Amino acid sequence: MPVNVAVIPVAGKGTRLLPLTKGIAKELLPLGRKPVLQHVVEEMQDAGVSDIVMITSDGKACIEDHFRHDQALLDLLHHDNKHQLADAVGFLSAATSISYVLQQQQDGLGHAVLCARDAVGDQPFVVALGDAMIGLNTEASLCKRMLRVFDDNNADAVIAFQHVPLTRVNRYGVAELKTGYVDGDEAFTLTDLVEKPSADNAPSQFAIAARYICQPTVFDHLEKTPPGVGGEIQLTDALRSVIRAGGLVLGVPLAEHEKRYDVGNFDSYYVAFIEAALADPHCGGAVRERLLQLTADSVN
Ligand code: UTP
Repeated sequence: MPVNVAVIPVAGKGTRLLPLTKGIAKELLPLGRKPVLQHVVEEMQDAGVSDIVMITSDGKACIEDHFRHDQALLDLLHHDNKHQLADAVGFLSAATSISYVLQQQQDGLGHAVLCARDAVGDQPFVVALGDAMIGLNTEASLCKRMLRVFDDNNADAVIAFQHVPLTRVNRYGVAELKTGYVDGDEAFTLTDLVEKPSADNAPSQFAIAARYICQPTVFDHLEKTPPGVGGEIQLTDALRSVIRAGGLVLGVPLAEHEKRYDVGNFDSYYVAFIEAALADPHCGGAVRERLLQLTADSVN
């Protein structure tokens, strides 16, 4: 069954980025010439998704402004022969529709996904976090691979994973997995998910990486999921419940070129911003020179 819907939660408070996020949605922070959320939407379009459901909150109207079709601006740019800029502004394909569902209270990622239940209905869907992109100026085929694995195996859910150093496993949901790969070398079978384990207790070094594909039955599990870490309803807990009920949940590791760029905290945002600036086709060289100069100065 083709997967046509993506749920993109963008309702979070972004408290780790305060005061920056007091008046700016973190999902609109720039990575290169686009906000991170535009990268995510384009990734969904590339994967063949036509309906995007954004879970939003009060105070994030700027997100709807960014994705609203602006014919007057397009006409102006074309009139001034700025056709390339017009293309960059009109990036949404005609086949893509975006709708918005309000999450009244920020009760966690799992709760945000549950808010999409009526909009999604009885069909499988992608969940893509609005504050994380995969790959930078590269052909990131992660979502397409996940969709293939989901379909080939008739899975209940497929989750993306990045291999992280042992020193960082305590920041993520981590996979406990069966040895041996399925579906060629593309995926592994999950036996559990462990939230933020210590390095000593980590069942693996595979950390959840911001992309999921779920059957609609996950909504039933979310309904029954009590608040977990931070008093929030966690999508990870609902997926554990799917595994415990005997569901088939598979993990797809990121390929080497599919690095995850996360703007959710300052250290990862700064690194992502610098890498995006370095990759800019016009300004990257000059940024690189300046950075080399700055780092040489700080060593001397
Ligand atoms: P985070 O886990 O980073 O949560 O969200 P957060 O609340 O935005 O950040 P902090 O911890 O306060 O700094 C990951 C994605 O899920 C969305 C966020 O907008 C972000 O894109 N989210 C999170 C929601 O839509 N609703 C929620 O209740 C929580």
